[in-house]
Amino acid sequence: MGFNPFNLFLPKRMVGVDIGTSSIKIVEISKWGGGRTLENYGEMKSASFFRDSSSQTGSNLLSAGFISKAMKAILDEARIKTKAAIFSIPDYSTFFVSFDLPPLTEKEVSEAVRFNAPQYVPLPISETTLDWKIISGTPGNKQPMKVLVAAVANQIVQEYQRIAQMAGLQLYALEAEALSIVRALVKDNKMTICLLDIGTQSTTVNIIEHGVLKKSHSLDFSTGGQMTYSIASALDKSYTEAEDIKIKDGLLSSNENIKNTLYLQVDPLLTEVKKIISEYSQYEQKEVQEIYLAGGTANLPGLKEYFAEALDRKVQIPNCFSDFLTAPILEETLAEMSPRFCVAVGVALSGLK
Ligand SMILES: Nc1ncnc2c1ncn2[C@@H]1O[C@H](COP(=O)(O)OP(=O)(O)OP(=O)(O)O)[C@@H](O)[C@H]1O
Ligand SMILES: [Mg+2]
Repeated sequence: MGFNPFNLFLPKRMVGVDIGTSSIKIVEISKWGGGRTLENYGEMKSASFFRDSSSQTGSNLLSAGFISKAMKAILDEARIKTKAAIFSIPDYSTFFVSFDLPPLTEKEVSEAVRFNAPQYVPLPISETTLDWKIISGTPGNKQPMKVLVAAVANQIVQEYQRIAQMAGLQLYALEAEALSIVRALVKDNKMTICLLDIGTQSTTVNIIEHGVLKKSHSLDFSTGGQMTYSIASALDKSYTEAEDIKIKDGLLSSNENIKNTLYLQVDPLLTEVKKIISEYSQYEQKEVQEIYLAGGTANLPGLKEYFAEALDRKVQIPNCFSDFLTAPILEETLAEMSPRFCVAVGVALSGLK
């Protein structure tokens, strides 16, 4: 959501902020020449909020006051001095739609998106901020085009502006998290990829073709939070205990009860992914070649192998830090962090082009 289009001279350091439902992640990234460095990073888990939340699927965020205080603490602890920041907006707050446009010049596209959006976006357009990307065709080329439009309620945009201000950051832009994650993780431009972001409260299935996000579906099942809940109730444990049990052995647990409880949560996602992949091949005549896993749940022991077998495709957990300049000693830590931090990294990179 580039609501501040006049920041032509972007700084060389940028802060990326991802306010997830289980934690807030912040990264500070610098760019010089062709290199990128992770200068500082921090995370604050807020599982207690999620536990107290009455809704497992709603979009109720933490209060702006709580979030900005937590952010200040992270910035302080991580010694982040840079004020320039870009925030990601969760997929469940963003409405994605794609539609066709006739041949147009670059200037005309933006007007045409605004003109056509009310037909497709179920939000009052006067109270909505639109962001869009051309996903096929080129303006001025005398060929029809297709655009992917992300729509967010102005109220949400204003909420983020308020949070940034209270946290002492200068908000340069907002971006839908599906776009941030693609920037961070998709480096091979040739393939058709299905990228899953399995977080605490939402799971997103994205299709990317030639490096461009084509489809994004946000689901409210098969989430990391629900996996933990179901273990807690199956074994009569607390949420925190169940969280440890889940992370320790996951689908590879020798306890049948744990294993079956987890499969019951994971299988609906598998069914949905199969459906999305098959629809994509039917309507777009393109086969999904690889599956990427992201979000904290990507690290669930056994998940990658289970998906690879069930979907009969290569599955990888891509590392968003793989082309960063880092000390070799940090490599393992960064690879483990990548699924959780890739949204924050991608959104920071959007300001360092
Ligand atoms: N090693 C691991 N194995 C299994 N699950 C894990 C592991 N590490 C983290 N998780 C799970 O990942 C989830 C947190 O992921 P993430 O940080 O991507 O979520 P979030 O961004 O806060 O949530 P959302 O995107 O839904 O708002 C939690 O449910 C946590 O239990
Ligand atoms: Mg997330």
